[in-house]
Amino acid sequence: MSWEPKILAFACNWCAYAAADLAGSTRLQYPPSLRLVRVMCSGMVHPNLVVEAFNQGADAVLVMGCHPGECHYLDGNRQAASRLAVVEEMLTMQGLEPERFALVWCSSTEAERFAAAARQMHQTVERLGPSPYRAPAAPGPEDGGKEAAGCG
Ligand code: FES
Repeated sequence: MSWEPKILAFACNWCAYAAADLAGSTRLQYPPSLRLVRVMCSGMVHPNLVVEAFNQGADAVLVMGCHPGECHYLDGNRQAASRLAVVEEMLTMQGLEPERFALVWCSSTEAERFAAAARQMHQTVERLGPSPYRAPAAPGPEDGGKEAAGCG
């Protein structure tokens, strides 16, 4: 059975999301395992959201925001950074490796930095394997399994 990592990235509208857009328009390669969620600021991403992403099946989570000192809401990214230790502790308490979470700063013009962060996390997840919170995939025909049976 094949396994594809799922990485959820909360990307700040003003920088990381724009960098992702630029990466796409300039045809920079990054893994399709990355799913973007646009947020207005990295400071909006509460630690509970990160934990919920893992509970919903993410193998890794990125929070991507503006470089320190460049947050459009003054100190949102500093708030995000100050929560890093809390998030890592919450993940450890849940039995998850802290490497499954990362904060990344990039500007709207740093498409390569965005793509590199995506590639790096993809490699980390491939090394660690699937999250233990991820529901096992239903067996498909390629696995020799049968389709999920209905009643009757
Ligand atoms: S506006 Fe980008 S991190 Fe705050």
